[in-house]
Amino acid sequence: MSDISDRIKQLKKEKNAVILAHYYVDGEVQQIADYVGDSFYLSKIAVKVPQQIVVFCGVSFMGESTKILNPDKTILMPDQNADCPMAHMVTVEEIQQVRKEYPSAAVVCYINSAAEIKAHADVCVTSSNALKIVSKLPNKEIFFIPDNNLGHYIASCLPEKTFLFHDGYCPVHKKITESSFLNLKAKYPDTKFLAHPECTADVLAHADYIGSTSGILDYTINHEDKEFIIGTEIGILYELQQKSPDKIFHFAGDLPACMDMKLITLEKIVTALETMEPQVHMDEKLRKAAELPLQKMLELAAD
Ligand code: 13P
Ligand code: SF4
Repeated sequence: MSDISDRIKQLKKEKNAVILAHYYVDGEVQQIADYVGDSFYLSKIAVKVPQQIVVFCGVSFMGESTKILNPDKTILMPDQNADCPMAHMVTVEEIQQVRKEYPSAAVVCYINSAAEIKAHADVCVTSSNALKIVSKLPNKEIFFIPDNNLGHYIASCLPEKTFLFHDGYCPVHKKITESSFLNLKAKYPDTKFLAHPECTADVLAHADYIGSTSGILDYTINHEDKEFIIGTEIGILYELQQKSPDKIFHFAGDLPACMDMKLITLEKIVTALETMEPQVHMDEKLRKAAELPLQKMLELAAD
């Protein structure tokens, strides 16, 4: 353990804090975290942990969701500038317009959205539970916001429903192009391709498996293959190698990296624990409105 890791351990003990990290943050941050996972797992774990202080190593919509579900806890974001561009791609006006035109449509909001957007949705989803949740909704018409790629993927699995899409997207997964995949596939023709549903449809068409970061990780653990082509952000490599040190992972798209996730560093975690800043603060009216679709997600995702 390095000095800085020891300092984090000591501060965590002193303050009785817990550290949560998404798979896309740097490996050294994942290494010192108490819990590492995908968006859905992290949103559930934040509610369960007994600690009152949560350091969230991820982007702002994740810290916000944690605050929405845990209003009495102190949520620290080591870098407030770590934000997801997709979280701001849809506007409240666009939602209101669709609600006017299609009053029976359910507004399904990808969790990668700011609290102001969630507050206007009927239900939130993550990439690991979207299919289950949308299939359970009684509404035939679905307005899926903002991720166009995830929305189309879910629609392709649920032909009995009618979808309206937004044009939001993840700039990192967009860089994983079909040609970058085909180049790799030419080199490793017998290797399975595992892709995140934030990838574009032309890329997903080649996937042997489509799933969230946890889904991809589980697939590599549970299948005997020794090599995989991965279609998601490079941060997941740390956990892929931790879980399967004997396996080889090739990344389509020239090492796609989410620079917002990479803003989280060990030094910033130390500062956050020492100063108790920056914290996530939220207007109570907004929090309550955004809590409803998040609670509905937790309810519908539970078996
Ligand atoms: P998951 O954690 O649900 O796989 O989503 C990936 C992502 O882009 C988070 O920002
Ligand atoms: Fe947002 Fe994409 Fe980064 Fe995830 S990988 S936080 S969707 S920009």
